[in-house]
Amino acid sequence: MKILLTGGAGYIGSHTAIELLTSGYEVVIVDNLRNSKASVVDRISEISGQAPSFYELDVADYAALDTVFKQQQPDAVIHFAGLKAVGESVADPLLYYQLNLLTSISLCRAMADNNVTSLVFSSSATVYGEPERIPLDENCNATKATNPYGRTKIIIEQMLRDLCDAKPEFNVVLLRYFNPAGAHPSARLGEDPKGVPNNLVPFLTQVAVGLRDELVINGDDYPTEDGTCVRDYIHVQDLARGHVAAIRKLQSNCRLVTYNLGTGTGHSVNEVVAAFELATHQHLPRTIGPRREGDVPTSYTDPSLAERELGWKAELTIEDICRDAWRWQAENPAGYP
Ligand code: UD1
Repeated sequence: MKILLTGGAGYIGSHTAIELLTSGYEVVIVDNLRNSKASVVDRISEISGQAPSFYELDVADYAALDTVFKQQQPDAVIHFAGLKAVGESVADPLLYYQLNLLTSISLCRAMADNNVTSLVFSSSATVYGEPERIPLDENCNATKATNPYGRTKIIIEQMLRDLCDAKPEFNVVLLRYFNPAGAHPSARLGEDPKGVPNNLVPFLTQVAVGLRDELVINGDDYPTEDGTCVRDYIHVQDLARGHVAAIRKLQSNCRLVTYNLGTGTGHSVNEVVAAFELATHQHLPRTIGPRREGDVPTSYTDPSLAERELGWKAELTIEDICRDAWRWQAENPAGYP
């Protein structure tokens, strides 16, 4: 089977490409390299021992994408491509609506026009906004995102539901990720954010490697056990396996189904820092700062639906995440060449 990955040179896409290649799938990567580098594709080949096909192009460029579909005739698509920085989406909402929505529309058109009707979409737990209950399950209200980035995910999810209603031949798996973190155990692939990282784990690794002076913990007066926010950190390797399970699910003519991908366990910022110090044998300089706007105190999933229906569950721990993220950062202090 041949799987086309939009954004396949990105953080989650590249780890998934390896998991697919080593599970016997052929992989076609389409990426405009806006937030990634061509060297990622070389490293995917190096780790998996197999070369994916690679096209440097914009998914929003329908004519170019249609040509790839005609040449490659993929059996299914995983749609990772998109912008994902919350703060940037607040500052430049039109960029997010334009890029994330036009990309998704162009992709769905190319799929429909080429009779490719199996799709996995990268959604996010951000669609739940302020959680109505904890743990979050797939039936929780998923229309309450608090920022434009999250609203693009909600709109794309809805567009895919409408598409499946209109075209019964389509099968779609929506995957709502909790907090992806960690890196490939080879230390050859990892998260390589541009500029100051927004997310906790890449910020921690940059402090540990000396690129940043200290971690600022965004508030310690939340209604949680130690006052810092609690999240469900999922190792990117577990997440990659989740995509392979979703591809298998598409074979069962599933129509549109939705799964939360997380571990089911929450860890506070202080707990992540402690796990990181243990993994790296370093003391991490840190201070307590003000709360960050839009942060909810606690978010973690009930992962049981994915376990029942995809036969998938997360296996790696926060310690694994910290160890692998650190090895990646230590061996690639400036990210990808
Ligand atoms: C964020 C996004 C979410 C996105 C996800 C992708 C927000 C509100 N949410 O989730 O939409 O899908 O990233 O992974 O931005 N923290 C610090 N200091 C730091 C960085 C983070 O204390 O320097 C804290 C945060 O305040 C938060 C926790 O660490 O309490 C996790 O933060 P982060 O990694 O940004 O994830 P989310 O906010 O959960």
